[in-house]
Amino acid sequence: MQLQKKSMWLLLSMVVFTCAREPSSPICSRYDYEERLLERVLRNELALETTLNDILKTNAKVVDALKQLEDGKDKVRSTLEVMEKKRIEMESRLADFITNASQVMNSTLAASVDTLVETSSEIKENASVTVQHLVNEVRVLKGKCAKRML
Ligand SMILES: *[C@@H]1O[C@H](CO)[C@@H](O)[C@H](O)[C@H]1NC(C)=O
Ligand SMILES: *[C@@H]1O[C@H](CO)[C@@H](O)[C@H](O)[C@H]1NC(C)=O
Ligand SMILES: *[C@@H]1O[C@H](CO)[C@@H](O)[C@H](O)[C@H]1NC(C)=O
Repeated sequence: MQLQKKSMWLLLSMVVFTCAREPSSPICSRYDYEERLLERVLRNELALETTLNDILKTNAKVVDALKQLEDGKDKVRSTLEVMEKKRIEMESRLADFITNASQVMNSTLAASVDTLVETSSEIKENASVTVQHLVNEVRVLKGKCAKRML
């Protein structure tokens, strides 16, 4: 196409050159119509080529943009996967922590209850010991009073 266009331009230049030198030459009127036709064809071809180039450039841009979009999508997907993994990890860690904490609280509570039960039984024992002492003291006092009355 390039070579063909060049030879057409060359032919056109030759005709224009000849007519510039000899406007009355019969070749001018004979080629006048062809010249204009040729010019139009060449202009159309040039415009077509420019349009084609623009289309190719636009297409390349679109392809590039699509690729970037695809890359972005992949990045978002992998980021989401990482976030999901982290979420699961955190959830399981939280569950472990809650289990651990509740176990610790449970055993602490059980120990407290045990201590409380021990203490209360000790208090009961101490109280009964005290009551026993009181009973003994009262008995001694009663004995003393009885001796004095005699
Ligand atoms: C659970 O408790 C134990 C000690 O009782 C501790 O060593 C462990 O790190 C705890 N685990 C978590 C997930 O808190
Ligand atoms: C708490 O401890 C008691 C025994 O001390 C046990 O029977 C119970 O299952 C425990 N509960 C939890 C939630 O660990
Ligand atoms: C019970 O009595 C003993 C000695 O008599 C004493 O050491 C202990 O602290 C008492 N316990 C309570 C709970 O009062």
